[in-house]
Amino acid sequence: MDSEITAGGAVVTGAGRGLGKEIARLLVERGHLVLVTDVDEATAQATAAELGDRAVARTLDVRDHAAVVAACEDVVARAGRLDVWVNNAGVIVTGPAWEQDEPTRRLMVEVNALGTINGTLAALTSMRGPDGTGGGHVINIVSLAGLSAVAGEAVYAASKHAAIGFSLSTMADLRAAGIRNIDISCICPDGIWTPMLYDKLDDPAAALSFSGTLLQPADVVQAVRKVLDRPRLVTAVPRARGALVRFGDTFPAFSLAVAPVFVKKGRRTQRKLLKAGGTRAPQRPE
Ligand SMILES: NC(=O)c1ccc[n+]([C@@H]2O[C@H](COP(=O)([O-])OP(=O)(O)OC[C@H]3O[C@@H](n4cnc5c(N)ncnc54)[C@H](O)[C@@H]3O)[C@@H](O)[C@H]2O)c1
Repeated sequence: MDSEITAGGAVVTGAGRGLGKEIARLLVERGHLVLVTDVDEATAQATAAELGDRAVARTLDVRDHAAVVAACEDVVARAGRLDVWVNNAGVIVTGPAWEQDEPTRRLMVEVNALGTINGTLAALTSMRGPDGTGGGHVINIVSLAGLSAVAGEAVYAASKHAAIGFSLSTMADLRAAGIRNIDISCICPDGIWTPMLYDKLDDPAAALSFSGTLLQPADVVQAVRKVLDRPRLVTAVPRARGALVRFGDTFPAFSLAVAPVFVKKGRRTQRKLLKAGGTRAPQRPE
């Protein structure tokens, strides 16, 4: 297979579980040597072991810029070059911002926004190379919360808006500087059935995340596969919810007025899931 001979290195952050793990699996299948990174050492190692000898575990806290740069150097040393960097690591704590303490707010902004900035910049430096002939693709896992208001997820939404604003602005800077061989693609999914959402089944503040059709990680991996083949600035998953969210963003007063309808719908889904299979909640995804 050609891709096995030619593919360079790839890095996925927050790849110990959930969506990141499945994105790492996709990149291994596409022939990349994949650095499976996570702040949680045990899950990074377990994922890399599961994905085989083209996956290497590395403990990485995306808030630490120097550590992110070191991870980038590591994958280049192993694979010769860096082709793909996926900023996937994310955290969410729900509830009104005024009920969250400063470390909680800081955590979300630092992991979701600063972590994405750290990863993107480390990757760009490596992909540009000393003579600018490199090239590569940065994929930033954002959220529909990066495109509009989300009741119950204000600080999370702020951090995701920052991630998308940074990504698009940096793409503009790359093109203005004449750099055309590097792309940044943002993926903005609705709620995904991962441990992140499972842990919010009984949390009314997370209702909006359950108000659409719950995605499986495979649905988002499919979107990642598509942008790997054809880079795209922003991909909402599913597309129809993206259109709805963007409409709401164009008319914010209308959007805030109808939000309670969607919150109620999300609560109904949460209750249904909790009751699924009798009185037991569905199994926690990996
Ligand atoms: N689950 C959803 O409903 C949903 C919806 C839209 C977007 N997203 C985004 O998708 C991405 C993946 O989320 P998920 O659902 O798989 O969540 P998850 O909680 O299941 O996995 C997130 C991973 O990130 C890791 N992580 C946390 N802090 C880190 C740090 N400081 N440095 C490195 N790794 C860290 C965790 O250890 C974990 O392995 C996140 O960016 C999330 O915001 C999720």
